[in-house]
Amino acid sequence: MTPSLPSYERWGSLVGKRVLVRVDFNTPVDVIDGQLEVTDDFRIRATVPLFEDLLERGATVVACTHFGRPKGKVVEEYSVAPVRRRLATLCPRVELLENLRFNPGEEANDRAFGEALVAGFDYYINEAFSASHRAHASIMIPPLLVPSAAGPNLQREVATLQSLLEEPARPFVAIVGGAKVKDKLGIVKVLADKADTVIVGGGMAYTFEATQGRSIGSSLFDASYLDECAKLLERGNVLIPEDSRGLADGSAFGSGGGPDEVIEFGAAIPDGFEGLDIGPRARQSFVNAIASAKTILWNGPMGVFEDPRFSTGTEAVARAVAASDAVSIIGGGDSVAALQSYGLEHDVSFVSTGGGASLEFVEHGDLPGLKALRESPCN
Ligand code: 3PG
Ligand code: MG
Repeated sequence: MTPSLPSYERWGSLVGKRVLVRVDFNTPVDVIDGQLEVTDDFRIRATVPLFEDLLERGATVVACTHFGRPKGKVVEEYSVAPVRRRLATLCPRVELLENLRFNPGEEANDRAFGEALVAGFDYYINEAFSASHRAHASIMIPPLLVPSAAGPNLQREVATLQSLLEEPARPFVAIVGGAKVKDKLGIVKVLADKADTVIVGGGMAYTFEATQGRSIGSSLFDASYLDECAKLLERGNVLIPEDSRGLADGSAFGSGGGPDEVIEFGAAIPDGFEGLDIGPRARQSFVNAIASAKTILWNGPMGVFEDPRFSTGTEAVARAVAASDAVSIIGGGDSVAALQSYGLEHDVSFVSTGGGASLEFVEHGDLPGLKALRESPCN
């Protein structure tokens, strides 16, 4: 079990103190009436109670976040201006610094950048669970320099994931999807040890299917992982799609959709065709496995669900997870977006703010940002 994280409660009164809070306000934005506006303020609203508590204790509160991936340069479309506007309506007394990633020192974990960031502050709080898998300056350096604490949402996310890993009610069914086998293989391996069943769907599943001698047409495929995928299947508790649906090569797909005819392939996808969603038999067997679960962890869609023609697998999984009375933990922007689009986000036990971070936590049992807080020499 990972040791507990330091809390800010121990600081007592904060009158006259300056507190730097690292948040993750990397929120979706869209152009509305000619300017970028936040379209989902879940991450901002979730942080307001912390801000209010700190203000009530007398602190001056300054928040900092990354926003998109401007790669160390000032890029106007990645300015935090829209986030600032939304924050001002929710909690006007908190200042938000400009995008940390405008400075190359952030991602380089540059000591001098971290020092400049925290200069003039008495305390540091990390309330950015979803960025704590990144060993970046704003996550790693402040705990070396000032007394530091974990924010309440970060603490809750860690505790939830920890209890899932330590004593899951069984059967424990994990569902892993997404495009790239390279990104998710590590987590599938860990989950194959911990869970009773691991369901694998999405683009990554085709490499698993190929190990069984099944033709996958021009579906996503990564030959360098064939052996590892084959070994995982030998364990007997990794469930892959029996069939799939998709399009002929060259057809239009994606959020714009297209007029091309959707084909149900069965188990084999012919040359010249691409699988983009799980098929009806896979849907049924996944739904059955989910229905038997007492604990569910879901990360990643079952297909190109942004295109409504290929959302059937993801929707079936989302509905099965929501209908279950198992403890259900959902991580990852895509799975959360899918749940929200079906109005099911309140029918699961816990929605994690961090996709990458929650997977890395499950895989490694810790994150660089959590370690930095625990090992702060100033605490
Ligand atoms: C996220 O939104 O997933 C986190 O903010 C991490 O962002 P990153 O993947 O750009 O580091
Ligand atoms: Mg991400």
